[in-house]
Amino acid sequence: MGFSLLWSWLAALLCLLFFGGEVQCDCTEENMQMQGGTYTLTKQLVKGSMLIYNCPEGYYPYPVLTRLCQHNGSWRHAARKFNPQRCKIVECPDPNVFENGEVSPPQDKYFVNNETTYECYSGYTMRGSTRRVCLPNGKWSGSTPICSRDSGHTCADPGVPAGASRTGNLFGIDEKVKYSCNSNLFLVGSSDRVCLENGQWTGKEPACYYKHTYDTSLEVSEAFGSAIKESLTTLQSLNDTQAGKTIRISKNGTLNIYIAVDISESIEEEEVQKAKDAIIKLIKKISSFNVDPNYEVVFFSSELYEVVNILDFFDKKVERSTIIEKLENFEVGEKNTGTDLNLIFMTFLERMAVIKQRVGKELFKEHRHVIIAFTDGAYNMGGSPDPTVARIKNMVYMNHTAAEETPSREEYLDIYIFAIGKDIFDDDLQPLVTGLGGRHYFRMKEIRELQETFDEIIDESEVQGLCGLHKEYEIVGNPQDVARKKYPWWASVTVQNEGRSKKCIGSLVNPYFVLTAAHCFTFGDLPEHVKVEINDGQGIVKKVKNFIPHPKYKIHSKTEEGVAEFYDYDVVLIQLEDYVHISSSVRPICIPCTQETSDALKLVGESTCKQQEELLLKNDLERLSFLTKRGSAVEEKDAHAKLGGNRQDCIKHALEAPGITATDPKVPVTDNFLCTGGLTPYRDHVACKGDSGGAVFKNYEHRTIQVALVSWGTKDLCKSGGGIVESDQTSRDFHINLFRVVDFLKEILGNDDQDEYSTLEFLKN
Ligand SMILES: *[C@@H]1O[C@H](CO)[C@@H](O)[C@H](O)[C@H]1NC(C)=O
Ligand SMILES: *[C@@H]1O[C@H](CO)[C@@H](O)[C@H](O)[C@H]1NC(C)=O
Ligand SMILES: *[C@@H]1O[C@H](CO)[C@@H](O)[C@H](O)[C@H]1NC(C)=O
Ligand SMILES: *[C@@H]1O[C@H](CO)[C@@H](O)[C@H](O)[C@H]1NC(C)=O
Ligand SMILES: *[C@@H]1O[C@H](CO)[C@@H](O)[C@H](O)[C@H]1NC(C)=O
Repeated sequence: MGFSLLWSWLAALLCLLFFGGEVQCDCTEENMQMQGGTYTLTKQLVKGSMLIYNCPEGYYPYPVLTRLCQHNGSWRHAARKFNPQRCKIVECPDPNVFENGEVSPPQDKYFVNNETTYECYSGYTMRGSTRRVCLPNGKWSGSTPICSRDSGHTCADPGVPAGASRTGNLFGIDEKVKYSCNSNLFLVGSSDRVCLENGQWTGKEPACYYKHTYDTSLEVSEAFGSAIKESLTTLQSLNDTQAGKTIRISKNGTLNIYIAVDISESIEEEEVQKAKDAIIKLIKKISSFNVDPNYEVVFFSSELYEVVNILDFFDKKVERSTIIEKLENFEVGEKNTGTDLNLIFMTFLERMAVIKQRVGKELFKEHRHVIIAFTDGAYNMGGSPDPTVARIKNMVYMNHTAAEETPSREEYLDIYIFAIGKDIFDDDLQPLVTGLGGRHYFRMKEIRELQETFDEIIDESEVQGLCGLHKEYEIVGNPQDVARKKYPWWASVTVQNEGRSKKCIGSLVNPYFVLTAAHCFTFGDLPEHVKVEINDGQGIVKKVKNFIPHPKYKIHSKTEEGVAEFYDYDVVLIQLEDYVHISSSVRPICIPCTQETSDALKLVGESTCKQQEELLLKNDLERLSFLTKRGSAVEEKDAHAKLGGNRQDCIKHALEAPGITATDPKVPVTDNFLCTGGLTPYRDHVACKGDSGGAVFKNYEHRTIQVALVSWGTKDLCKSGGGIVESDQTSRDFHINLFRVVDFLKEILGNDDQDEYSTLEFLKN
């Protein structure tokens, strides 16, 4: 005690002498050491300096992550004798919140590298990972395991993430579940989720984080990549079909991106350089999406260092092509200490106000704003940014709340926060994020991880492969354009030979292939008899190179058994001479058992075909849609697949179809068909002749997945060929379940032994 007092006096005296009377180095390094780790100081021992502890991977500094040298010369969070600073092993959140099953081994606490396995009680089905390992970043590998029983609910059991508890056990339409995190964990993501009519939960699965939990670059790039990808690709216009990056400012649908980087703790020029490199990478990635946003780029500490002013875009003083140059040449120079987070939001708000004034209220309505901030959230000047963010929302939402206007104005504003640092102020930062869809809050340790993160974000060629992405909200325009944007995968197929003409609907499953029904073709038809129409801006009619029916499709193979026309394996793939050009209105649909579909369904890790099927066809009654032609556009029909216990009652009506004398409905309707139609419990729409071959699909968070294909029905209730027609008591339709013809799809679409077309990646299992 006596010694330590003497020591601090001595230190103060030394400082006095050194700085000629001014006490500069207020803090001392005494008692700052840590068992098993090291520390760094941001500004030596000067007040305002931060002491940052570092531990080896799999460990974190405890009891504190950082210390700050205060004005009176003492460290914030004084060192304590009885709780010495040390490196503690990383712990993962408690997995024993798992419902309807067993976690092994049962433990009080789980540490890095500990492994757990999950098993459901009998009668329950498993989704998610059955084996998980506690990772050095404080998270479990894989995805939340969920054991659920088919309850006939609209939404699937959303499960309980590790460390969380959930209230709400009903999963019907409009039912709500609420999550909270246990003890010293905090929640990242959606704490409230609501079951929607389409069987989806709003928001994203939340996760429970410790102060020592971080996202890896890969996780961030996947989550941020898919979030930003969706907002960028739905913005693409039909004219963006060319790979060439035409600089074109569309008057409507302007995108404004505001980027702010906190450099207050970046002591070294090198780190500022890394931040610059990361932003350059991000801007390059964004430009590969064929959208040309206006940018505002600022660095900040207690003051603002403006790199690119967004208003210069409106004054045409700056071109998009020169932003990167400006960034590269930008130098911060002498930097002030302190952080003013509110300042950046105030600046962005002012910019928005000026833009609004310039373009006028009506056009401003068409502006979308994306704010991306990189900071640790330690604002020590300027106060909380909350009120400023509220004003930004008001400005963009035009004072309308979400419920008052459709389409909701919420999609016009996204605020992403990359919380970066050794000691992050999550409570202050999390409330700032805003936006629909994907994750908006990320937690990382160091700015240098950013470049790698943005590097990983999928480039344009992969974006083109975002199967099933479409516009969901109400769009106005002529019916053809609207149909193309809502159902960008639909194609019209006509087979004309010897005076016969059959009209069908097809679905684009790859830029070179259209999937439709085999029965649209007759023996003797040749590729030149087939006309495929898709308007991709490069001509409507596509030349057909070949068509390949399923080898097991044999229409007369069951005449002996009392089935005049047997439609099992009623699928054909039409190969086009040239690929179609992908854009927001022409894009393949997702098909079963591909990696892209797993991505669309947000299945993580090594997913299986079975997981996809369980997710898409989980209920005894599954609402599905298919299309019918109306003029040169299409309209949507709804029907309910009767599965499980409902199936038998549905397929029995097959025996009433003309040409069938068999007595067992399973003879004409094999397990390869899905059955829809009838009046109970819902009056379905029936398929008409011209609907044949069309996709039977389901939407999942802005993506469309084809689960079946329209094949045949028991009755022809449609007059003059098409339109929306409702079912009667016994009318039934049968659709080929694509999960049953995956081998065929894979053999052609996944065939790597050719170089005529790019292949789809099919799952191993
Ligand atoms: C130094 O200031 C902090 C707050 O600014 C205070 O909590 C602490 O007690 C002070 N320490 C001494 C030694 O005066
Ligand atoms: C879990 O990890 C801790 C810390 O490394 C270790 O001591 C323990 O044996 C592990 N438990 C199991 C079951 O592997
Ligand atoms: C595409 O661009 C051309 C001229 O550049 C224009 O005439 C046409 O209307 C545009 N089409 C769409 C759908 O925006
Ligand atoms: C663009 O906005 C103007 C003004 O609001 C509107 O008149 C015009 O129809 C819009 N154009 C398109 C293609 O949406
Ligand atoms: C929104 O409301 C605020 C106060 O509630 C008001 O000052 C502002 O002018 C309103 N903005 C618009 C666009 O109506």
